[in-house]
Amino acid sequence: MDRIRIKGGNTLNGTIPISGAKNAALPLMIASLLTDDTLTLENVPHLADVEQLIRILGNHGVDYTVSGKRLSSTPASGRTIHFTARTIIDTTAPYELVSKMRASFWVIGPLLARMHKAKVSLPGGCAIGTRPVDLFIDGLRALGATMEIEAGYIIAEAKGGLVGNRYVFPKVSVGATHVMMMAASLAKGETVIENAAREPEVVDLATCLNAMGAKISGAGTPTITIQGVTALSGARHRVLPDRIETGTYAMAVAMTGGDVVLEQTSADLLTSAFNVLREAGAEVTPVPNGVRIVRNGGGIHPVDVVTDPFPGFPTDLQAQFMALMTMASGVSHITETIFENRFMHVQELARLGAKIQLSGQVARVEGVSRLAGAQVMATDLRASVSLVIAGLVAEGETTVNRVYHLDRGFERLEEKLVACGAEVERISG
Ligand code: EPZ
Repeated sequence: MDRIRIKGGNTLNGTIPISGAKNAALPLMIASLLTDDTLTLENVPHLADVEQLIRILGNHGVDYTVSGKRLSSTPASGRTIHFTARTIIDTTAPYELVSKMRASFWVIGPLLARMHKAKVSLPGGCAIGTRPVDLFIDGLRALGATMEIEAGYIIAEAKGGLVGNRYVFPKVSVGATHVMMMAASLAKGETVIENAAREPEVVDLATCLNAMGAKISGAGTPTITIQGVTALSGARHRVLPDRIETGTYAMAVAMTGGDVVLEQTSADLLTSAFNVLREAGAEVTPVPNGVRIVRNGGGIHPVDVVTDPFPGFPTDLQAQFMALMTMASGVSHITETIFENRFMHVQELARLGAKIQLSGQVARVEGVSRLAGAQVMATDLRASVSLVIAGLVAEGETTVNRVYHLDRGFERLEEKLVACGAEVERISG
């Protein structure tokens, strides 16, 4: 299993190109199941989760081709992939595939909408909480589907097709909002989703679905209205920049000090996190096609943070922010409200010398003046990268084990950091 070895102590200076968003690419790829035409996605990041979803979609009959290099293309420009689901050959998503990645459960929406039936294994994914699927079940039931659970599978059926309805989510869910938008796009009549997730990835999916012929309005607000259509066509769509990757490198620069321009992204995607970073002592300045992060001289100030659905502080940046706070000049409190078990990085950060006390959903972080390198290991994607951030300032050598978690969500991480002056290397085997 690959490991990443980091020699701490260098500041970061230079530019980092930001990739397409994993959490937009995945639902966009799944949307290809809604049409027999070709959906072309540009700026698709090269990540283990994307490759895994390609395998899962292939099982349903989705063919894909990757466009060759173009004169203008750089390693940072992302891939263009064409997805064609001419015929759906299988409406079952088996346990062996779905258990590896929670987002693959989302095929239930398009399969039900287009084929009027689906049999999908209950999901797996990162070990960050129980992550139930009740909202998907209730939402799709509201559109007229029967939903039964049998031997670890959800068996969904909508004889005669889905029918539009009003559905109020009792809790905000990104995935369930994606699924309801996809399902309702091919339902008869109008669907109104209340208390919808407002994440930029939801807006990106709605934009792509509309380019395919769907009639969706209100994405990005709590109320989304969808007029069902009888068929969707192909389209060409560019995956939006990865705001979590953007925020992760921003926190890395705030941690090490230095001056880095994050390119091919936008400060507008991360207003709350950037406000917090400013309070913590970093300069965050929007620049054309990106954002510049600077911290020179001044220390890191403690800031309290509570994770929340968008536009709040993202849970996907909580671990990285905690890494930053381990070196703050005082005490901060970090409250996780989205997932009940997303503090697995705490004991690993402690191995590097961090002082963190957990009490339920709140972590009390007492800043220390130095971290010291050690062997660490993480059990999920964002936790792993928080250890890399801490390793960048820890004295001596830090080895992050189980790098496959990082490969699920960070494209060319070592390369991007090394280009800005970090001493990071991957050790194979
Ligand atoms: C998406 O997961 C992201 N994944 C997650 O990113 C992210 O942490 C999360 O949204 C929150 O922002 C992708 O986009 C692929 P949710 P999702 O449904 O859709 C509860 C990463 O590191 N819930 O919005 O699965 C759930 O347990 C990942 O890239 C129910 O109770 O998250 C959680 O407490 C990890 N019942 C809350 O809602 C349900 O039926 C929000 O989860 C569904 C969810």
